[in-house]
Amino acid sequence: MSIQLFDLSGKVALITGGTHGLGMAMASGLGKAGARLAINGHSPGRLEQAISTYRQMGLEARPFLFDVRDERAVAENISKIELELGPVDILINNAAITKRVPLAEMETADFENIVRTDLTAPFIVARHVVRGMIVRRRGKIINVCSMMSELGRDTVGAYASAKGGLRMLTRSMATEWARYNIQVNGIGPGYFATEQTAPLLEAGNPMNEFIVSRTPAGRWGHPDDLQGAAIFLASRASDFVNGHILYVDGGMLATLGRPVNS
Ligand code: GCO
Repeated sequence: MSIQLFDLSGKVALITGGTHGLGMAMASGLGKAGARLAINGHSPGRLEQAISTYRQMGLEARPFLFDVRDERAVAENISKIELELGPVDILINNAAITKRVPLAEMETADFENIVRTDLTAPFIVARHVVRGMIVRRRGKIINVCSMMSELGRDTVGAYASAKGGLRMLTRSMATEWARYNIQVNGIGPGYFATEQTAPLLEAGNPMNEFIVSRTPAGRWGHPDDLQGAAIFLASRASDFVNGHILYVDGGMLATLGRPVNS
């Protein structure tokens, strides 16, 4: 019984930004659980390389090249996915960008681009996927949040504003769509070693030691650490979970931390 709870056989999963990093880790987890993968990316080369990687893992994955900020492209590609693979059962809104600039120095255009990509785009993709889910009376939507959905930090104010909004968008989607047997939840990664956080891990950057000291598990997350949470929120095992942000953060949000060298 327990294994079937997490079985995604026959399900179609769309992962935005699934060409690398956390998106690829979560998508491959869903694939290993049986899902057929629609992988979105906005770079042709990276998308082609990613599909090759998924297929080397023995997973069924198809490429869908579109910019999540472009509503016409989103609508066209959701239709394409549903024609090629079938109705979208699972959506992981993962695509996101950041730009580490103090708010007082940030250009408004940069602020707006980060909000458009990290908050408005998840709304755009979800609104085009949810129509079919409502008709079918079933679906799973997972919005990838962040520690910055709860906490601020110097230089990531635009990203935190978007990710904080994404936490409330997740709860709002759950409020309106749970009645159709659609479960909308979030995954909140802690600090994971990825391309996006690579600058924080560069030699001499005090953030590395700071993050490890602020994480009770005493380490950075590895992308595969997210696979269980993704499978759980995409499967029958979470059919009565709505509007929950599942933080996979090594305990960071649970603690004030401890004095350095204690
Ligand atoms: C930063 C990091 C964070 C992480 C992640 C934490 O600059 O502090 O990039 O934003 O990427 O979002 O959950």
